[in-house]
Amino acid sequence: MREQLAKIKSQAAVAVQEAGDLNQLNEVRVKFLGKKGELTQVLRGMGGLSAAERPIIGQLANEVREFLEQQLEDKQAVLKEGAKARQLAAETIDITLPGRPVLLGKRHPLTTVLDEIKTIFLGLGFEIEEGPEVETDYYNFEALNLPKEHPARDMQDSFYITAETLLRTHTSPVQPRTMEKKAPQVPVKVIAPGKVYRRDDDATHSPMFHQVEGFIIDKNISFSDLKGTLLTFSRQMFGEDREIRLRPSFFPFTEPSAEVDISCIMCHGKGCRVCSGTGWLEILGSGMIHPRVLSMSGYDPQEVTGFAFGMGVERITMLKYGIDDLRLLFENDLRFLGQF
Ligand code: DAH
Repeated sequence: MREQLAKIKSQAAVAVQEAGDLNQLNEVRVKFLGKKGELTQVLRGMGGLSAAERPIIGQLANEVREFLEQQLEDKQAVLKEGAKARQLAAETIDITLPGRPVLLGKRHPLTTVLDEIKTIFLGLGFEIEEGPEVETDYYNFEALNLPKEHPARDMQDSFYITAETLLRTHTSPVQPRTMEKKAPQVPVKVIAPGKVYRRDDDATHSPMFHQVEGFIIDKNISFSDLKGTLLTFSRQMFGEDREIRLRPSFFPFTEPSAEVDISCIMCHGKGCRVCSGTGWLEILGSGMIHPRVLSMSGYDPQEVTGFAFGMGVERITMLKYGIDDLRLLFENDLRFLGQF
């Protein structure tokens, strides 16, 4: 029996050493120490021993069991460590790897230009007002001195929603809306940026585009105030060496009216392809607010006067960046937008 015990001890020790994982180690435990395990079998056979030998063999068997239990415990600790190390290795992140590139968005050129326009006029003391895109016939036309059946209504092909409401064809309705709110208070210095809609669609017209309206009402506002304001705007927007030119024009809501040109940003007035040889580029419409427009919305044209102007943001953007097709601004082609 001594020999048997010695054999179990050495065999079990080897088996423990050879166990490659916790499962195998458990098999070793069962094989030697389990209910039907080898050591257990030996202990069962102790009944046949003499009374003198029994305690000696019993103690020996106990020593072997304690030895094996210690071996198993040590090995289990080693295997657990190994498993943890493997898990850590598998989860390791190489923090020196370069990151995945993140595509950065850019501001749309229209947004940039709109912000520049606002900044310039805010610097001149203007406030920003907004009006609805679904507008009534009254504010879009009548309050701007365009009565029903007025031929100038045909200048703007409108999207009507009902007989009396439409998508606004310009930002000018913000004029009478603001006047109604403020009259008879002066001064009024307002710009009104926003979307407008017309039944047009080609290389220079889009069914939706942006305008910025501007107007001032005060005592003694004159045409030279209009000219000075627009000269300041043009130089801040297109460069300090710009000149402007006012050409007589017609709008129902202004009298007199003028179209404003800037000296060509490419040739500075000599004449080139961009300005079609004229040396000038049209940037906006303007004029002195018609007395009827003032009086319809609560101001006394004997007491106050005003000027107004309206510009297309797309047109300003195309001029500023040399974009030759309006549709590029709405197609959202990243190859185009990425250039700004
Ligand atoms: N509302 C005009 C348009 O859409 C632009 C305009 C012209 C606005 C002259 C004005 C102005 O305020 O005085 O074509």
